[in-house]
Amino acid sequence: MTEYGVKKVLITEEEIKAKIEEYGKILAEEYRDRNPLFVGILKGSFIFMADIVRATQIPCEIDFMSASSYYNGTVSTGNVKIKMDLNTDLNGRDVIIAEDIIDTGNTLFAVKKLFLQRGAKSVKIVTFLDKPDRRVADISPDYALFTIPDEFVIGYGLDCAEKYRNLKYIGVYEEE
Ligand code: PRP
Repeated sequence: MTEYGVKKVLITEEEIKAKIEEYGKILAEEYRDRNPLFVGILKGSFIFMADIVRATQIPCEIDFMSASSYYNGTVSTGNVKIKMDLNTDLNGRDVIIAEDIIDTGNTLFAVKKLFLQRGAKSVKIVTFLDKPDRRVADISPDYALFTIPDEFVIGYGLDCAEKYRNLKYIGVYEEE
């Protein structure tokens, strides 16, 4: 059974859990003894961030930033705005950006560049969803848990007009 507004389930809760465990182990292996800083890009990443850091059982730190390339509806404007910044000094840090989705790539292109300018030793991107068909910016994730077609998806942090973020699965939005 699906909630109102959900056309179909694209990724189930069970599939999500299995993939999170798999990638948590991969990240733990790569970042052991490096005290990485996980940075979640709000708001969409908040659930993925909580799950991936708990699956990555090594010493690490976390911080959040709010940056957006979307100003209305479902269409990216190509502009990125930093609405809330980090509290952490990035100088010499190994940063892992945790995102819910890479769509046009405009947000992460700008954020990654900024973090390197701020002196981060390394910046890698782990994204829960990758939608490569929509890419505009010259950027790709280092780790993508799921690659999806160009459909408007909701749940597991992703919204439609701020609703549906608390769905436990990824669904395709039933557009009118
Ligand atoms: C979404 C998503 C990414 C960004 C990806 O955030 O969380 O941050 O868009 O799109 P892009 O690759 O085209 O830049 P959104 O701006 O919708 O804000 P939200 O996370 O608060 O929902």
